Amino acid sequence: DCLSVTCQASPNIALIKYWGKRNEELILPDNDSLSITLDLGELHSDTTVSTSSSMTCDTFYFDGIQQTKLSKRMQKVLDEVRRRAKNDQIKFVEIRSHNTFPASSGLASSASAYASLAIALTKLFNLENPQSTAAYLARIGSGSAVRSVYGGFVRWSSEGECLSSCIYPVEHWPELRLIILIFNSSKKPVSSTDAMQRTRETSTLFQARLSTVNDKIEKLIQAIKIKDFNTFAKIVMMDSSQFHAVCMDTYPPVIYLNEQSKHLIDLVHAFNKTDENETMKVAYTFDAGPNPFCFIREEHADEFLSLLKHFYPSNNDNDNVHKQVSNIDGNFSSINLPIMANALERIVLTKIGSGPKII
Ligand code: DP6
Repeated sequence: DCLSVTCQASPNIALIKYWGKRNEELILPDNDSLSITLDLGELHSDTTVSTSSSMTCDTFYFDGIQQTKLSKRMQKVLDEVRRRAKNDQIKFVEIRSHNTFPASSGLASSASAYASLAIALTKLFNLENPQSTAAYLARIGSGSAVRSVYGGFVRWSSEGECLSSCIYPVEHWPELRLIILIFNSSKKPVSSTDAMQRTRETSTLFQARLSTVNDKIEKLIQAIKIKDFNTFAKIVMMDSSQFHAVCMDTYPPVIYLNEQSKHLIDLVHAFNKTDENETMKVAYTFDAGPNPFCFIREEHADEFLSLLKHFYPSNNDNDNVHKQVSNIDGNFSSINLPIMANALERIVLTKIGSGPKII
């Protein structure tokens, strides 16, 4: 009598960051946020949930290894599912989860993990209003996961039900690409959960940030609507910097960026200046980690990749993107920055995705 469902979901990258909760238990955010959900291609979480009458407890396997216990948040999600499930025969659940990329490295692995868990559970137990239920379950697992429940451009509202919605589908801006540079895949020094709480308690810049977010979101949505990359790029980069400034204003300070992050920031601005029409070619954003997510239109991707190859030479033969890059010799002599050999652990070229799927 065993039932089982598997769901695959991908991370999302915040264009306007979520930072701060007004309710820890329900994970109600202090501000609206906006993100792009990645394509399922290279980076995703796969979660299988099963239930049968013979199970005597909840179990969790991560990468095939049974964990001694479920995290509090995972337990909270399962308790909420049992509360909503009509069929009270259903008692326990086995969760098997696998990520194709490192957890806790600022790559939003909790977002894809909880989104895939929430959708799989909603389906397994046939819960009512599946979309909003899955979003709710994902959110109480990890705030940013509420945005990975949908594809395309997604807004998470800080008012009303505090759920997410797709504001533009993946087809809206198909030529947008994402280049993820992994400088360091080790665990971050302070979790987002702890850091944002500390920010609320100590940062005065935080309140100033909150008063600017809605206006930025409206301007960004307008830029996305008309595919105005210059405005898009500026708003995205400024929100990333503001978020990291707020982290720095936290006491004790939370510093996610490193030397390589700073180098990439300088490199992107120098590269954008090389365009004779002064149109921007690339934008970066950083979540709670040193690894940049770069946005670029397809037409500029090869040139930017060759720039990255020039400034971050790698002798890592496993690196597909570096190998892929055609040897266009861009002229980067106007860019006066040091070459950082072996700074990059990995580079991923991807695009916007259409959202999770049941497999
Ligand atoms: C910097 O969603 O990981 O990535 O809700 O406590 O699980 P919890 O935090 P989490 O925070 C993500 C913060 C961020 C910005 C963002 O994704 O919007």
